[in-house]
Parts: sequence; C-alpha cells; structure tokens
Amino acid sequence: MAVRINPSILAADFANFERELGHISTADFAHVDVMDNHFVPNLTFGLTMVERLQEVSPIPLDLHLMITEPERWAPAYAEAGAFSVTFHAEAATDVVGLARTLRALGSRAGLALKPGTPVEPYLELLPEFDQVLVMTVEPGFGGQSFMESTMPKLALLRNAVDSAHLDLWLQVDGGINEETIVTAASAGADTFVAGSSVFRAENPAAQIELLRSTASVSAHAH
Ligand code: DX5
Ligand code: ZN
Repeated sequence: MAVRINPSILAADFANFERELGHISTADFAHVDVMDNHFVPNLTFGLTMVERLQEVSPIPLDLHLMITEPERWAPAYAEAGAFSVTFHAEAATDVVGLARTLRALGSRAGLALKPGTPVEPYLELLPEFDQVLVMTVEPGFGGQSFMESTMPKLALLRNAVDSAHLDLWLQVDGGINEETIVTAASAGADTFVAGSSVFRAENPAAQIELLRSTASVSAHAH
C-alpha cells in the first residue's frame, strides 16, 4: 500500500516558510492548517498566504480548512489551484455539494472528522470524496497527544474503502510520531500528517523517511 507523509507547517518557523518548505521537499505534500478563530480557537493563515506558499513550495499543498462556512470560503482555495482541499463535516451543511464543487474546480476533495464525530453517517458518501481525514487530536493546535480512541473509525473506513474498491486516501492528523504511526497504519491509515515530529527533528528529511518506512511496514502487516 502506498504511504504518504505530509508534514504540517503549523510546526514550522512562521518567519521562514520558504526555507522550511525546502526542508521537507522529500515529503509527499505540505499540510497547511487554515484556522479562522471561529471553528477552532486559533488563527493561522488565509487565502493570500496559501497562494504565496503554493508559489514557493517544492511539493503540492494539502489544505486542512478548520473554518466555519466552508461552502462560502473553500472554493476559492480550489480556484487558487490547491492540490487538495479538506473541510470539516461539523462545519458544512452540504458536504456532498461542496465536495462536487471542489472536484469540479480541479482539487481533490477531503472530509475531516473531529475525534468525537462518528463516521457512520458518511460511509455511504465516500465515493464523493478523495480523502477522509480522521483527526487524532482536537483540532486547533499542534503538539497534542495522539488519541487512540479514534482508531475504530479508521478501521470502519478501511473496511468500506477496500470492500468497495474506492480510490480514497485515509489521513490521520495529530500526535503522529514514529510510535503512534504504527497504530494508525495498522488501523488502516495511508496518509500521515506530522507537525512537531518532523519540524522539531534535528534532521526533518531523515524523520520523514523514518515515518515513511515505519508506516509502510505497519500498513503491509494489517
Ligand atoms: C491540528 C492540526 C494539525 C497539527 C498537527 O489542528 O490540524 O495538522 O499541525 O500537529 P502535531 O503533529 O504536532 O500534532
Ligand atoms: Zn491539520
């Protein structure tokens, strides 16, 4: 199974994004956490910043929108050419309509679930999406501890994806390091966001490779 490692620039030096993106050029995608201070109690960056990051990034951007009213704001990120746009199920009123809009604009469409949000209502909608993001911490901040209690959702998703032969990536985000990635990969994740564990490492490229090889072994074992 292909494994993807997406470092989160939330843990990067906010005064040096171009340089920091250069340090993760061997990763698959740069994960960009857009926070609006409404959906989550934290504020990061918006469309103008994302457009500029996209110009200087050596790898495509994987956008994680932690914002209210995604129907209103998310399409502009797809119009800007983002490779992938993931919005939160809890914030959207028409998840299928928004996914179709994002796909029509040329982006991959992702659906994110907070730790307490059940996955069952969304299982029949999976063909509308390219990615499901299972949050493994409460969204809003980096550096939190991985919540193993979210793993049953991944198992349900992996089962649904495999039995229907869907081309859908299963992403985890929050508290991912070389230990917790084993648990997440074994449960069925194939796409791993890692902020602190990559950017706090002495050698981010080596940490990316360690995460990738650890996840590959665990994913094959499940
Ligand atoms: C949290 C963000 C995560 C965060 C992960 O709301 O969605 O992407 O950057 O950071 P770590 O890997 O430090 O838990
Ligand atoms: Zn994120």
